[in-house]
Amino acid sequence: MNYISIAIDGPSGAGKSTLARQAAAALGYLYVDTGAIYRTVALSAVRLGIDPGDAARLIPTLEQLDIRLEYDPGDGLQHMYLNGEDVTTQIRLHEISQHASRVSAIPEVRAFLLELQRDLARKNNVIMDGRDIGTVVLPDADVKIFLTASAQARATRRHLELQQRGQQTDFDTVLRDIITRDEQDSNRPVAPLRQAEDSVLLDTTELDLDQSLDALLTVIKKELAQ
Ligand code: DC
Repeated sequence: MNYISIAIDGPSGAGKSTLARQAAAALGYLYVDTGAIYRTVALSAVRLGIDPGDAARLIPTLEQLDIRLEYDPGDGLQHMYLNGEDVTTQIRLHEISQHASRVSAIPEVRAFLLELQRDLARKNNVIMDGRDIGTVVLPDADVKIFLTASAQARATRRHLELQQRGQQTDFDTVLRDIITRDEQDSNRPVAPLRQAEDSVLLDTTELDLDQSLDALLTVIKKELAQ
């Protein structure tokens, strides 16, 4: 059986995960948050006392790494397991974002995670979000979308989200971190964040969540009908 795959890439804070999750629920597809996988590798490095940018020390630990994605049967949400422990909440800590960006620049880490991601798309209809899904992970995806918004709009949303989770971070720090991560993710030599040539650009700067979801579903339905 041939499964449908929808790739959504874009910079951090563009609303990819919220929108992709809701679109997947509306279409009955599996939602795969690939950033959560890189975050789990970053958490593993931190727990092992390894600097997340230290490729020489991190690479040998990959073989022993037990990373699993599981879907909660109740709410259908993706949970991340590291060596058998549910780390879904821990990987959302603000400092893990920076660490994830650094581990994701290591080519061996990307290669190690590639099959895990492709395998999910081989066995399910998926909406997969990340940075290189349309360019590297699923270059033959049925629909490719590049979701973005201005850095200011993305920082405003991320700041609100962190506040709602009880994490106190000031707005300027969030904005600065978003700009740093954009630079790191876009300028790394391997699988940098860039818009795939055959993707549809969706800019949500001026849209609220409902409008963004409508726009996303409209693009997906139109592309699938072609
Ligand atoms: O989407 P996110 O913020 O949870 O991702 C965390 C980091 O992981 C991000 O800074 C870049 C990296 N990442 C990546 O390089 N490739 C992906 N497909 C997904 C995330």
